[in-house]
Amino acid sequence: MTQILTVSDPNTLRAAVEALRRGEAVAVPTETVYGLAADATNPSAITAIYEAKGRPRFNPLISHVSDMDMARAHVLFTPLAEKLAAAFWPGPLTLVLPLNPDGGIHELATAGLETAAVRIPEGFARTLIKSFGGPLAAPSANRSGRISPTSARHVADDLDGRINLVLDGGPCRVGVESTILAVNGDKLTLLRPGGIPVDAIETAAGVAVDRPGPDAQTSVIAPGMLKSHYAPDAALRLNATSVLPGEAILQFGGKPLDGQDKASLVLDLSPLGDLREAAANLFSMLKRADASQATGIAVAPVPQHGLGEAINDRLNRAAAPRD
Ligand code: TXA
Ligand code: MG
Repeated sequence: MTQILTVSDPNTLRAAVEALRRGEAVAVPTETVYGLAADATNPSAITAIYEAKGRPRFNPLISHVSDMDMARAHVLFTPLAEKLAAAFWPGPLTLVLPLNPDGGIHELATAGLETAAVRIPEGFARTLIKSFGGPLAAPSANRSGRISPTSARHVADDLDGRINLVLDGGPCRVGVESTILAVNGDKLTLLRPGGIPVDAIETAAGVAVDRPGPDAQTSVIAPGMLKSHYAPDAALRLNATSVLPGEAILQFGGKPLDGQDKASLVLDLSPLGDLREAAANLFSMLKRADASQATGIAVAPVPQHGLGEAINDRLNRAAAPRD
């Protein structure tokens, strides 16, 4: 029932634009993860996203735009926001900016906030938005609470029968979601670590990025950042240095854990210890480990610098107690 079309097929772009114009939600590859995209100005299209995901309530969504003119039509840029956009777009950085009162992003996509989260994605997603001619709201294309998909197969497994169309652009280059940054005048606040490391943002911006602690504040400013998220079914053990019998192992940097022969499955996030490679492999390896009938999943320590901040954020959420 769910159709998969490859983005290299010349008919795919037109079929996708037509589905979006009908108000459908379409799964689209981006450089971070696959998104479930719909017309950000159409309330019934946005509702289709929530229905397919089985999300119990409305969270604000990222509006994806194709260029700065489209971005400026919907949100208001400060000079600092312009500078960040010039440095990182298209790419895995999302900016939270005040809504342009003349813009058309529907309040179901902003959850009634006076700000909107926007980014220009890379590749086919950007081409699709340009052809569609307006902003596309898109959360990750997984059922609520599940691991974000980094391949068309992941999307189809999770949303089969719930959406009509998945566009297959191959595995995602980055593998973790975008970095989300609130811009207030000349103040920058990190709402979610992601595909652009914070130190790269600070270098480009010339100002420090505030990191709100893992307290109640964050849940108010980025309401979708639930503590337990990206959850595999198997229990996750972080910073593991040894193996419990029957566990699946995600090692890092080619370093075996103590008692490795007791593991039921051994995967390495990056044999050479490259954090980019580890980010790109993270969600697909979690899914493989989860599907392997292991007694649990043990993950070796991953360094916290650069993309490691986003990787450890996702691992901590995946390991958080479920409610
Ligand atoms: O890489 C990504 O960002 C992917 C791809 C598809 O672009 N999208 C994604 O969307 O991760 P989603 O819905 O899973 O996460 C969006 C996050 C949520 O945590 C939400 O709370 C936050 O963005 N957000 C959206 N609008 C906001 C706003 N106006 N103020 C604060 N946070 C906002
Ligand atoms: Mg998500």
